[in-house]
Amino acid sequence: MSQVFSDLFTLHGQVAVVTGAASGIGKATARLLAAAGARVVVADKDLEGAQRVADDLGNDSFAIAFDLTEDASIRTMFLYISEVCGRLDILINNAGIYPRYALQDVTQAQWHDMQTVNVWGCFMVLREAALLMRAGGNGGRIVNLSSIGGARTAVHDQVVYNASKAALDSITQSAALEFAGDRILVNSILPGAVAPLDPKVKTAGHAAPTGPLLTPGRILLGRAAHANEIAAPILMLVSAAGAYITGQTLIVDGGFSIS
Ligand SMILES: NC(=O)c1ccc[n+]([C@@H]2O[C@H](COP(=O)([O-])OP(=O)(O)OC[C@H]3O[C@@H](n4cnc5c(N)ncnc54)[C@H](O)[C@@H]3O)[C@@H](O)[C@H]2O)c1
Repeated sequence: MSQVFSDLFTLHGQVAVVTGAASGIGKATARLLAAAGARVVVADKDLEGAQRVADDLGNDSFAIAFDLTEDASIRTMFLYISEVCGRLDILINNAGIYPRYALQDVTQAQWHDMQTVNVWGCFMVLREAALLMRAGGNGGRIVNLSSIGGARTAVHDQVVYNASKAALDSITQSAALEFAGDRILVNSILPGAVAPLDPKVKTAGHAAPTGPLLTPGRILLGRAAHANEIAAPILMLVSAAGAYITGQTLIVDGGFSIS
């Protein structure tokens, strides 16, 4: 192999956008991509949280506010990135929501709101990023944060969420096909259970989730993932190590899906 080992995961000179990077998987991923040398755009609805993350990253990384429910804010964000950074190499399409609704009670408004954020909003982000990458002519990498729920039944009361992630995985395949000629590779990561990076505020009346994913023994590795254990395979997909992988849905669930 002509490539030396240390070159496989380096991102020096590259610009990466991580959406939803003020917390959780996005925050862990922003930190890892910056450690690999990328200039990271920390994009989130929560600008203060994004700023706190960006402050520690180095490489001229910066925070930016955007909202998946506002098409104009998505377009403005990529225009700004194009002007300030002059290029875009990597998109981690991570921001998303996961409220649970009982199947028998779910309303059209709840259905619509979830698909607007997790499907249309993420599609808009992917499309704007891919068009910017295409214009740059340097290829690119896109990773969509899906969920094991898009492929396997995992948690009760997630019919709306699961449908949104199955749609996102379908978008991954279509986009991989459409952009392969531009050397833009598109993949999904499907985490199983992930422990919160920071303590979550529990809302009143919040019931703990139940279902196969929460059943003792079903996760073969016996625990939820740390967010860093999702970020690491994301780095593989966006670095030279992932140069021949596109259109795939990579399950990272500690063995749940085969138990
Ligand atoms: N945590 C898990 O167990 C798990 C499992 C499987 C898949 N996932 C997926 O991974 C991704 C990240 O999950 P997480 O647990 O780290 O989430 P999180 O709730 O910790 O963080 C999500 C971030 O997205 C931002 N966000 C939410 N709505 C937004 C909007 N409309 N516009 C812009 N930003 C918005 C939030 O401000 C937040 O910083 C999600 O797509 C989620 O569906 C998570």
